[in-house]
Amino acid sequence: MRIATSTGDIAQSDADVIVVNLFEGVTVPGGATGAVDAALGGAIRRLIELGDLRGKAGEFTLIHTHGQIPAPRVLVAGLGKQADFDVDAIRNLSANVVRYLRRPGIGRVATIVHGAGIGGLDLGACAQAVAEGAILGSYRFLKHRSSSPDERTEIATLEIVEHDAGRAAAVEAAARRGDVLGMATNTARDMANEPSNHLTPTMLAERAQMIVAATPSLSIQVLERAEMEAKGMGSMLSVAKGSAQPPKMIRIDYRGKGGEGFDLAIVGKGITFDTGGISIKPAGNMDAMKADMTGAATVIAAMQAIAALGPKVDVVAIAPCTENMPGGNATKPGDVVSAMNGTTIEILNTDAEGRLVLADGLCWAVELGARRLVDVATLTGAATTSFGDVCYGIMTNDDGLAGALEQAAAASGEKTWRLPMFKEYDDYVKSDVADIKNAGTRGAGTIVGAKFLERFVGKTPWVHLDIANVDMMDKDRGWVSKGASGYSVRTLINLALGLE
Ligand code: BES
Ligand code: MN
Ligand code: ZN
Repeated sequence: MRIATSTGDIAQSDADVIVVNLFEGVTVPGGATGAVDAALGGAIRRLIELGDLRGKAGEFTLIHTHGQIPAPRVLVAGLGKQADFDVDAIRNLSANVVRYLRRPGIGRVATIVHGAGIGGLDLGACAQAVAEGAILGSYRFLKHRSSSPDERTEIATLEIVEHDAGRAAAVEAAARRGDVLGMATNTARDMANEPSNHLTPTMLAERAQMIVAATPSLSIQVLERAEMEAKGMGSMLSVAKGSAQPPKMIRIDYRGKGGEGFDLAIVGKGITFDTGGISIKPAGNMDAMKADMTGAATVIAAMQAIAALGPKVDVVAIAPCTENMPGGNATKPGDVVSAMNGTTIEILNTDAEGRLVLADGLCWAVELGARRLVDVATLTGAATTSFGDVCYGIMTNDDGLAGALEQAAAASGEKTWRLPMFKEYDDYVKSDVADIKNAGTRGAGTIVGAKFLERFVGKTPWVHLDIANVDMMDKDRGWVSKGASGYSVRTLINLALGLE
């Protein structure tokens, strides 16, 4: 879907449908909705009088215009109660509008900037949310179907129409930002939705290379097994041992400032399939483990958007990518390996592999001079026990960076919740035979994962995002898409933008 912006009277647009809105309780619409109502000879007011149009959140009313205005259809989108309305509601509404209008005969959609007329909401934020929500809501993963599952066609163009020419430049810049953030999220979704036979570590590295090749301000390096061995990445390599697929350690650099080291490193777990290894998982739902590389997809896609938006910060992304397979050469419970920083690890459960690959990814980020670290991982099933799919857990050694992350998440419409990192939990990763062990026995599974990772970040401010409970969703819901949700992609982008 192409996002366009224009200035003028939306009632004069000749798009296939024009989108206006209505708050709950309003009987005489104003603004653009009022202008369209007048052009339609009071049709919208009449529907309100009849009780057919109530402005409730999620209510969509499609009106046929019978030649009274150039556009053949008007969609009145219910905004709900004005007191509950915010930028998140706009993003979700825009996504739902696009889903609703995905039907034969609708190729060009014109919309007003929802929320722009209301005090307190920033015009740019509203315009961005309209564009972002539309791109996010238009996402579907159809590439492995030989024919479309339904009659629904894609909307070719969404045109955001601003009445006031003085505000056009702001709307245009904001729409572009929303477009870039939405597209990067869809890039990550495409990777996370891909079955593991279509996205091995090698193919994931190739996708990263293609993104970088199309983006002038990015550069890429992919470490092969021998190079990882030379760097002492024994923790990462222990996970790769059971697989016939060669592991890849992907690094992408963005230099917006051209300084020393990096203002931010984002490190993403890239398990292209997690069988559990020798500590093998039960068969039920194991297919979901094709998405265990969502962290890697997230950091790679975030770099695409960061580069496109060009903030004056230096950012590096690192994605340790491998399968976790059982096999004749696979790591066995009780094995001891050593990570890049010399820490020895007793592997008690080969299914706790995410922390093993992230350990070396984080060590490398520290070696590269990262001044802030954020890792993203589908790390623990316990995240679902704690949070369901409402919010994701963050764990940190630095309140300042965690605060910035929380703000970036809130700006993205994502809820986060901090889990404690009390030093008493350090005991949970103590091993009898090595420096630490990779799995605990006393509960607090999500915190244990973070306590393990903390051993590889040194004193660098660091935040860990465990997105295992939100990476895949079972239904479309506002900006969230069924399958790979796209959670945390925009949060990382917004965090990087905020460091400028
Ligand atoms: N990839 C899984 C976590 C996961 C589970 C993600 C369900 C998404 C949905 C991870 O590698 C894993 O297996 N974690 C184990 C850790 C345990 C063995 C300490 C878990 O959570 O059971
Ligand atoms: Mn696992
Ligand atoms: Zn895993």
